[in-house]
Amino acid sequence: MVDIHLDGVGHSYDGGRTWALRPMTRTLHAARAYALLGPSGCGKTTLLNIISGLLTPTVGRIWFGDREVTRVPTAARNIAQVFQFPVLYEGMSVYDNLAFPLRNRGWPKAEIDRRVRAVSHLLGLDSHLHRRSRRLDPGRQQIVSLGRGLVRSDVAAVLLDEPLTVVDPALRWTLRSTLKEIHRDTGHTLVYVTHDQTEALTFADEVMVLQDGDVVQSGEPTELFLSPAHEFVGHFIGSPGMNMIPADLVDGVVRVGDTPVGRAADTDGALPSGPVRIGVRPEFVRISAVPTAPGLPARVTAVDRMGAYHLVHAEIDGRRLSAKVDTGSRYAPGALEYFHFVPDRAFLFRDAIRCGTIAAQDGAERA
Ligand SMILES: Nc1ncnc2c1ncn2[C@@H]1O[C@H](COP(=O)(O)OP(=O)(O)O)[C@@H](O)[C@H]1O
Ligand SMILES: [Mg+2]
Repeated sequence: MVDIHLDGVGHSYDGGRTWALRPMTRTLHAARAYALLGPSGCGKTTLLNIISGLLTPTVGRIWFGDREVTRVPTAARNIAQVFQFPVLYEGMSVYDNLAFPLRNRGWPKAEIDRRVRAVSHLLGLDSHLHRRSRRLDPGRQQIVSLGRGLVRSDVAAVLLDEPLTVVDPALRWTLRSTLKEIHRDTGHTLVYVTHDQTEALTFADEVMVLQDGDVVQSGEPTELFLSPAHEFVGHFIGSPGMNMIPADLVDGVVRVGDTPVGRAADTDGALPSGPVRIGVRPEFVRISAVPTAPGLPARVTAVDRMGAYHLVHAEIDGRRLSAKVDTGSRYAPGALEYFHFVPDRAFLFRDAIRCGTIAAQDGAERA
């Protein structure tokens, strides 16, 4: 098992006019499970294919441990790749499909049998082992493809590109946990591409969030949720995403319109006065009926009953914000309520990048 190191790796499909993947330097550590998360077209597949060798990057170099592989073909990189759609020998049985990558490498028969049965058991394929692959439905075929990717325990990395797209949603939950289990068991380095935040957050040790060919933040799921470093992460992760409220910083005090809502902290020295955006997740917005300082008076515009919680939407001078509150609460459209932010869970952004936090004040609730 080796670290995968990207050294200034970037890719352009049009001779350098635009970057599908902007040059980046970072290390994917051995035995960790990574998710590449971002909307369609942000460069996830490009990055994955550069790691697998299906694509040679326009600039930069890739290392597997201390071996440079930038121009080494896929077959010689010792990786397994699973694609969005099934890649199988349709005429072969499920068993033979799973055994194929191992036979190819001359594993002993008993060892192959043990490994095939272990993987098929984990993926719920036991009762299908002797069926021809073409007789399975597409979802099941994809699970076999997944099995083929996971069956070898000696690969440098397993790369998966939106592998659960064709699988039934109910099964996806199970398969994600299975994948985690197999990962724990084999200690593979996993790189998992998805546009689905739930999939990324439940599965990965570390999530790399991509926007327009750039990794805007990489971290553990809780870190991305609790401490987004970039507006895009706040917006893309969470359901709904983070509130972004236009505000002003005046001599260290954060104001929404005329209302002070707290003091700026963690600003790496003095943050100059001027416009900022407050980013605060709906989970960290509290509501009270009486004016408590610092509280932002806002008019409730709608209340969505979500079953497990209520989502209260409000507006102040054309700025909107939402709060997640418990189902016992009673807020009505039209009412004026006082909104406040859980200290240290509300952040300041400038040019989409986090530049500070709204600090705790004495007596205020902490996260
Ligand atoms: N073979 C290709 N030729 C030209 N442009 C491509 C090619 N593959 C991808 N792109 C472009 O590169 C960008 C990143 O694509 P991709 O890596 O496939 O994104 P993702 O997997 O996140 O959806 C997109 O703008 C896409 O249109
Ligand atoms: Mg893709």
